[in-house]
Amino acid sequence: MGASVPDHFEDMWRAIEPLGRAERSGGYFRQPFASAERELDAWFVEQATARGLRLEADAFGNRVAWWDSGSGPGVLTGSHLDSVLDGGAYDGPLGVVSALAAVELLRDRGFRPARPVGVSVFVEEEGSRFGLACLGSRLATGALTWDKARGLRDRDGVRLDEAMASAGLDDENPQPWLGSERLACFVELHVEQGRDLVDRGEAIGVASRIWPHGRYRFDISGEPNHAGTTRMEDRRDPMLTYAMTALAANKQARVAGQRATFGRVDATPNSTNSVPSSVTAWMDARCETDEALASMVDAVVRQAEDRAARDGTRLTVTAESVSGAVDFDPSLAQRIAADHETGDWPILPTQAGHDAGILSAQGILSAMLFVRNPSGISHSPAEHAEMPDCLAGVDALAETLQRLSS
Ligand code: GLV
Ligand code: MN
Ligand code: MN
Repeated sequence: MGASVPDHFEDMWRAIEPLGRAERSGGYFRQPFASAERELDAWFVEQATARGLRLEADAFGNRVAWWDSGSGPGVLTGSHLDSVLDGGAYDGPLGVVSALAAVELLRDRGFRPARPVGVSVFVEEEGSRFGLACLGSRLATGALTWDKARGLRDRDGVRLDEAMASAGLDDENPQPWLGSERLACFVELHVEQGRDLVDRGEAIGVASRIWPHGRYRFDISGEPNHAGTTRMEDRRDPMLTYAMTALAANKQARVAGQRATFGRVDATPNSTNSVPSSVTAWMDARCETDEALASMVDAVVRQAEDRAARDGTRLTVTAESVSGAVDFDPSLAQRIAADHETGDWPILPTQAGHDAGILSAQGILSAMLFVRNPSGISHSPAEHAEMPDCLAGVDALAETLQRLSS
């Protein structure tokens, strides 16, 4: 990275654009504690330092860059720099780059906040490496204990504490530190991950709530055997149980107007001419209410069990990462959304999970701003936001920070 100090949104955006980008798909692989994400972490430190912000790093890999001003609990903004596998450029980094740019804008305007304003980066928001979404913010707030987290393993069997140690994070007994006594509120700006804003013809929105959602691991074991010589009626095929379960999940979600996805599957030994010995597959499920989520997951599990009985396979289901419904504080959302020159910003729900949801559930007053995504596509190399909308997002965030820190 060059020695120059990029000040403006577009310069920062260009500087991070190549980091972790796959040549073939154009998507991003920015997994926590691995090289591209560490480069982004170093970039953040460089930007914060160049701006004279005071850096705080916790023992979990999260960072906050503080604009020390005024007194009392701070106003925090920011997001994450990691991505899903082959993800988009905007999910996470848009919130971090916009936060740095918004702080700069307020300083250029001569604004002096009455309380500190911090820019945060939470680690492993996507759970793409260790399976648990919003890992950094859960650990920082105490929503998850270090004892439960430290043994999580990635796909190569590397433990979380080992991966952290390789990034220089080797505190034996890291403690949560983030709570409402330190923060007046948290505002996360994020690219919209659906088509609500584009359909309304609006560039900026405010979050009302996050749908409850969870990840469920289905471990199915059967009998490994020859693909040619084993009669169809003699098989105990876990792939079949998995396939029927994926269809059942899709049907349950469509019938109930909710969401269910099998996006990850491991077959062992993954051999073309063998009946597999086992299949592990992960269901991502999201519903409007906690009750609807529990009942949809129950229905899928029951159908999977019935199918396993017919297939002669064995099934166990483990909930790996479940987040309840989050209703953001309506008066804070209203305070952010109302009275703008161009009219009020719409207030809308999201089906995607966010660190803001974790902080909110831990009693920290939280809110979110969304920036229009012209296609609604996300968690994909095609994820996009137009530059004028990104800059409108910076303005909106600056205005919001000014309202909340005056
Ligand atoms: C995070 O983006 C999620 O909703 O999975
Ligand atoms: Mn995401
Ligand atoms: Mn995100």
